[in-house]
This record gives sequence, C-alpha cells and structure tokens, in this order.
Amino acid sequence: MKLADNKATLSFSNGSASIDLPVYRGTVGPDVIDIRKLYAQTGMFTYDPGFLSTAACQSAITYIDGDKGELLYRGYPIEQLATTCDFMETCHLLLYGRLPDIAAKAEFTQRVTYHTMVNEQMQFFLRGFRRDAHPMAIMTGLVGALSAFYHDSTDIHNPEHRDISALRLIAKMPTLVAMAYKYSAGQPFMYPKNSLSYAGNFLHMMFATPCEDYVVNPVIERALDRIFVLHADHEQNASTSTVRLCGSSGTNPFAAIAAGVACLWGPAHGGANEACLNMLEDIQAMGGIAKVGQFMEQVKDKNSGVKLMGFGHRVYKNYDPRAKLMQETCKEVLASLGLENDPLFKLAMALEKIALEDDYFVQRKLYPNVDFYSGIVQRAIGIPVSLFTAIFALARTVGWIAQLNEMIGDPEYKIGRPRQLFSGSTRRDVLPIAQR
Ligand code: CMC
Repeated sequence: MKLADNKATLSFSNGSASIDLPVYRGTVGPDVIDIRKLYAQTGMFTYDPGFLSTAACQSAITYIDGDKGELLYRGYPIEQLATTCDFMETCHLLLYGRLPDIAAKAEFTQRVTYHTMVNEQMQFFLRGFRRDAHPMAIMTGLVGALSAFYHDSTDIHNPEHRDISALRLIAKMPTLVAMAYKYSAGQPFMYPKNSLSYAGNFLHMMFATPCEDYVVNPVIERALDRIFVLHADHEQNASTSTVRLCGSSGTNPFAAIAAGVACLWGPAHGGANEACLNMLEDIQAMGGIAKVGQFMEQVKDKNSGVKLMGFGHRVYKNYDPRAKLMQETCKEVLASLGLENDPLFKLAMALEKIALEDDYFVQRKLYPNVDFYSGIVQRAIGIPVSLFTAIFALARTVGWIAQLNEMIGDPEYKIGRPRQLFSGSTRRDVLPIAQR
C-alpha cells in the first residue's frame, strides 16, 4: 500500500491525547485512513453500520466512480468490454488480471468447458426440492452442495485447488441454473453442449428438449452474453463482501460462493431485477402508463414503503453505465423478436423519464441501475421472472471467486470480525424461574 503524503490527526474534546493515523493512496479513488491501530491506541472502535465510509479491503479488480457513473474491470471501461469482449474474455480478465489473446482465450474456454457437467448425483439432490421452490433457494443449496461433490478442490491454501474451483464454479453455474429451471418446468435436464458458446450453451440447456433440435438465436445469445459481462463484478457490494467475510474463516470456495448467492437474493441487491419486473407488471395491471403518476406519488410517500425498484444505488450517484448498455440491449432484443411495442418496455421508459425529471429523484441522485432493464430483456428471451436473480448469480460468480482468491492471496488478510457498540443490558444475575 502506498502512503499518501499527508496523515490524519484524530483529536478529542475531552483532552485525551490526539493520535496520528496513516493515510494510504490508491491508484484512483478516495484515500483511506488506516484505523487498524485505533483500538490499541485509544480503546475505541469506529462506528459505521452499512459500511458507508469503510474500505474493508484493498483490491485491484473493479473500480467504480459513482459520481461519474464509471465502471472499470481491471482498468477497462465496461462500455468497451461490453462491446468488444465476450464473457469468457471478461472472466479471464477478472480472474487473472489481463485480457487473453486468441490462444489464451481458446485455452481458457476449453478449461472452463471441460467442467460444464455436474456430478450425476446432483440431480437426485435437486429432486429433493419442491417443484415450486424458488430458484434462489435451490441455488443456495446446490452451490453449497458442490463442496460435497468436488472435495478434491476445496483447499483454499492450494493455488491449484483455487484455480480449479474457480473454473468449476464458472462452468457449472449455468448447468445448475438450467437444471433448477427444467426441474420447475417438469422437463428433462439437458446436458451441456460444449461446442456452443458459454451463453449459447446456457440457452440450449434452458430451452432445448430431447424431442427436437434447438437453434441458438445469435441476437439472444449476444444479449445474454452482455448480461453476463455487465453483472460479472461490482467491487465490494453486499454479496461480494459476504463471500469475502465467509471465505475469511478459511471455508471452502463452494461454501463461500453459496453465502454470496444467499446474500444476492435480497430485493435491495440482486433480487431487484425480479422485484422490478413484478413492479412493472403490477403498474401495468393497475392501468399502465396512465397510472405512472399515481404510482410515483406512492414511491415519494415515505409511509407507503414503496420504492421504485431498479432505481438508486449506494455508489452510483449518476446514471449506472450498465443500465445504459442494458437499455441498448433491450431495444435490440425486442426489435429482433418483433416486440418493439412491448408494453412493459414502454412503461419502463415512461417511469424513467418521469423519475429523471422529478425533484425527489433529482435531489437524491437516484438513477436507473442495471436491474431496471435487465428483467425486460430476460422476460423477452423467455426466462421466467423467478429465475432472474439466479442468472445474476451465475454471472457474478466469476467476480465473487476472483475477489475471494484475491483476498486469500493478500498477505494482510485476516478473518473478518467487526466490532459493535453495545446497547443491551449490563451484567445482571439470573433469578430462579419461580422468582422471575
Ligand atoms: N425509490 C425511492 N426512493 C429511494 C430509492 C428508490 N428506489 N432508492 C433510494 N431512495 C431514497 C431513500 O428513501 C432515501 O431517501 P431519504 O434521504 O429521504 O431518506 C434516499 O433515496 C437515499 O437512499 P438510501 O436508502 O439511503 O440509499 P442506500 O445507498 O442505502 O440504498 C439501494 C441503495 C440500492 C438499496 C436503494 O437505492 C434501493 O433500495 N433501490 C431499489 C432496489 C434496487 O434497485 N436495487 C438494485 C441495486 S443495483 C444491483 C445490485 O447491485 O444488486
């Protein structure tokens, strides 16, 4: 870590001695004040619920400038990656820090492809779920269960194990998500087809049946690949921080990624794409565009508990660059499927327009995020709404595993152990039950 040329001085109004704290400078972004010795020097903790001002690690993977609306994977702007590279290239970049050349890409793709099948036993595990189980409940279980099936790659201190686990997770997530879908649809599982691209193979496992040939639509394949690229990593968000915290205990990568899947499920995080589509459908059922004004009044009323899903972000205080790319993809997919007049897309555009002009949203710097349009694309592709977050998990797996492996390789890494401001009862004695 590089020391900045200044330091921070913390002083106290009660006359306690002030202390100097080192300041570190990243390659870009805010400096950080090193408070690791604060407790030893002052007996005090810092208080930052929700990590509004806390950098929990140092990372060289993804950088977001929330004010500019900029997202970089290993320094490359998301706009360039989404238009020039595919998901396999993006995975290589996130995992190993460099974009592959043609030969390296072919080799990496082959190494991933080699692992696309899951142990045949996995389907019996899956069959234990109710047919109507939510796909994220299934995914949390299946991903955690991978550690039981691939025990030969669970030693996080072995770099080869870490690499194979990463490849296995990236390769098997599409298979698991498609299996969860086929199970709920009551259709036979389709084995992966390694001659297809990563996105093409996923479409095949989702929509092919043994009865007839399935031809991958290249527009949809490209759209799905872009969804994967856009969701691949997003620095220290809730699920990534969960993966890091879980992995910091030394647990195996499959267990840590399962924790990430569980965290992603929530509607404030990855569950927002499903919640957003449900919201659009509800407004449509209320009367569509004519009811947008009424809906917005509810959103602005703090007592209603209604939020405009797909809007707002902890870091972006400007348009989420992924939302722009997703809107573009949305238009392309709808046009290619002859759905240009899709009422939900029109409704989303109307909501966006009103929100971007409304004082409530302008003052709070609330803009569309990636989830605002991704649901419409996925719905047009034929993906059921309840599967949206599982697809987000599939795409984010590479980011989670890259961040986890980065943490394990960091000599400064320690088990994550936040402290607290205790506000409960002070010591008291237990009375025998008859006297309470
Ligand atoms: N609709 C209405 N009001 C909102 C919204 C929204 N979507 N988002 C934030 N606000 C208000 C919030 O009520 C608060 O108002 P006030 O200052 O008057 O109390 C202000 O804006 C600041 O919001 P916050 O809750 O303090 O911001 P946060 O950083 O804690 O929350 C968020 C970020 C993403 C959880 C929140 O914006 C949200 O719940 N959005 C909807 C869910 C969503 O789309 N999530 C997907 C995020 S992107 C994909 C991902 O990374 O998973």
